[in-house]
Amino acid sequence: MLLHEVEREASLGGVSLTQVAREFGTPLFVFSGDALRARVDEFVTAFGSEWPHFELMPSLKACPIIGVRALLTQLDCGCDVFGPGELEGALRAGVPPSRISVNGSIKDQEIIRKAVGLGARIVIDSPREASLVNRIAKDMSTVARVMLRLKPDLADVQATSDFAPDLRIADLTQRIKYGIPNSELDDIAALWSTLDAIQLVGFHSHMGRHSKDLAVWQGWVSAIAKKLLTLEPLLGDVESPVVNIGGGFASALDADLDVVNRSGQTPSLPEFATAICQSLREGLSDSKYNWSDWTLEIEPGRGLHSDTGVHLTTVRNLKNERSGTEQRWAEVDTSEVFLDLHGVPDECPLHFRCVSKRAADATTHYDVVGLTCNAEMLSLDTALPELDIGDVLAIYPTGAYIEPMAANFNALPRPGSVMIDQGKVRLIKHHETVDDVFARDIIE
Ligand SMILES: Cc1ncc(COP(=O)(O)O)c(C=O)c1O
Repeated sequence: MLLHEVEREASLGGVSLTQVAREFGTPLFVFSGDALRARVDEFVTAFGSEWPHFELMPSLKACPIIGVRALLTQLDCGCDVFGPGELEGALRAGVPPSRISVNGSIKDQEIIRKAVGLGARIVIDSPREASLVNRIAKDMSTVARVMLRLKPDLADVQATSDFAPDLRIADLTQRIKYGIPNSELDDIAALWSTLDAIQLVGFHSHMGRHSKDLAVWQGWVSAIAKKLLTLEPLLGDVESPVVNIGGGFASALDADLDVVNRSGQTPSLPEFATAICQSLREGLSDSKYNWSDWTLEIEPGRGLHSDTGVHLTTVRNLKNERSGTEQRWAEVDTSEVFLDLHGVPDECPLHFRCVSKRAADATTHYDVVGLTCNAEMLSLDTALPELDIGDVLAIYPTGAYIEPMAANFNALPRPGSVMIDQGKVRLIKHHETVDDVFARDIIE
């Protein structure tokens, strides 16, 4: 949707991107409410037709902008949050506390107290947390809803990670910090009957975007099911216990900047859903519950948001070397520090398109370079129409993990954000100002 509209029409949701750039100023992040609505619908339809109790719990970290998240709230999505800031963000975006899942390692007393008080669910990541949540809930004369975050054993999966093609996913999922170490899980299980102020409502696990191979995903959910069956006796009298398999679904354009191996087609959501749910049904066949009593949750970040956002920038200067090897530069008002690009990307997965001129005229090659004092090689030898100062470029997809990674190098104020939804365009995040950049500095 995004690719075709930006590529062919130079617009988003029927709105001209050049006009948006001129009205709201660049650099600018643009989020398509229409694309997000369509993607939520695809997730819910794909997984909901395979699993009777299904919950979409988008991960806030991928796009922690209140206006975007408020649309997800309107679309009846729950929310996975990491840390106190994201918990506050979810609340400001109107997520009902009971639909918030508080994830992450090193939760301190403050966030636990807040989550328990609100009735949000807590994903326990260590024995220390289990005791702490229990103690705090007891102090507050309540019972906290919790899940246990597992580290399933993928020993049978030989595949390597798309982030690090020389490392096995099986080793990485054990090595990376998140989840309760298996021996410590035994310690928690042994203590469980003494933890009378916490109610176990299900199990959580997140592999990440290590692979697009459906066999890896099947191995993943089988391993989760195997592990949770050993812990099932700890479930209280919950009617529909939760199995949350995390996020990590690649998006269709699969333009993640930190992924090394992007080869191969991204499976469609129905393909992901069919493969995953089939293995999960098999894995749960020995559960004391019927498989259809379990609630399946997923927490997509990139797979939901990535292909719903575009970044706009304006050409501010043009340079042309005519002696020796001819070289053209288009200097634009964005930066690698706003796009999470570091150094010279060998193969930048982002698309660069001039939206203020006809795409068919893209026959001149430019190095598109950004604002800061770095080399700022955003995209080298990029075929674009003959540019003029004031032309607008769209860079995409930028809907996931790019806006929240923007930094203030060279004291640059970070870009604002706009939402285009159902024919309306509105600012959802102000452009930062130079005053904002220095706001935390203390002057004696
Ligand atoms: C617990 C949890 N859930 C979901 C996600 C989202 O992952 P992705 O953006 O790869 O879908 C993350 C990302 O780190 C995570 O840590």
